[in-house]
Amino acid sequence: MGWNSWNHFHCDINQTIIQETADAFIASGLNKFGYVYVNLDDCWAKSRDSKGVIQPDPETFPDFQGMIDHVHSKGLKFGLYSDGGNKTCLGRPGSLGYEEIHADTYANWKVDYLKYDDCYNEGIGPEVRYKKMRDALNATGKPIFYSMCDGDYDTPAEWATDVGNSWRTTPDIADNWDTMIACADSNNKWYKYAAPGGWNDPDMLEVGNGGMCTTEYETHFSLWCLIKAPLLIGCDVRNMSNDTFRILTNSEVIAINQDALGIQGNKVKSDGIRDVWASPLADGSFAVLLLNRGNATTDITANW
Ligand code: GLA
Repeated sequence: MGWNSWNHFHCDINQTIIQETADAFIASGLNKFGYVYVNLDDCWAKSRDSKGVIQPDPETFPDFQGMIDHVHSKGLKFGLYSDGGNKTCLGRPGSLGYEEIHADTYANWKVDYLKYDDCYNEGIGPEVRYKKMRDALNATGKPIFYSMCDGDYDTPAEWATDVGNSWRTTPDIADNWDTMIACADSNNKWYKYAAPGGWNDPDMLEVGNGGMCTTEYETHFSLWCLIKAPLLIGCDVRNMSNDTFRILTNSEVIAINQDALGIQGNKVKSDGIRDVWASPLADGSFAVLLLNRGNATTDITANW
């Protein structure tokens, strides 16, 4: 559980925003609900030096280590983005061929989480490249959550369970109902592969970004909790509305996401408009989500 810069800020990101986000975690109390990772996505890297060591953009990130230390000083964890190709999706330097050297740098910086993307991959299969970075991260000896963002969304669940701690199962989410629901649907077919230590990732939350109404955001958050998705907030937490904060900190719903059994809830019934999604929980009970996908009020019944 945490936050990631991409869905709200995209490439328009800098050190001040990251530090203020960490401050806002504490000021708002998000950390007390379990949100712990502050994750910097694409557009922080500028170059590789003559030895291949990755260099942050000095204009937008004048004190990279200071920024990471600031996040840690708040009792939070720091996550970083990188790419298993020559370049990141936005054209910044990638890690292909530099896996060990970059993993060492991340460990030295005390990075706690790595999101590893798939752009500009030179046609080399994801299994080869993602395992190489897994081994490089393990060799550092520093525990680093490994979040795979493999662009071949139709397969990672089948081979990634001993490679990453999570793996993307969908193309990029967007801040609208149709895309959000499409992410939940395509993630659903892999539900059996999720378990503690390795999770399907239907992409990050859009709650609070303004493109959906409050009920749609409640549905989005409820679904992500039921399907045991990584909960990475994607809005500007320095300026959350009351509704955004209320949705993101609903302890009862978060408890379903964090339930110790770790079985991904799935769609158990649908007539195309009316869905029933359900998730077994550690105490033997079930969490049930009744989803009306249509435009009109309707009745949905679940029998168990
Ligand atoms: C891909 C990922 C996104 C984001 C961007 C950054 O599109 O799926 O989540 O990380 O790259 O360029």
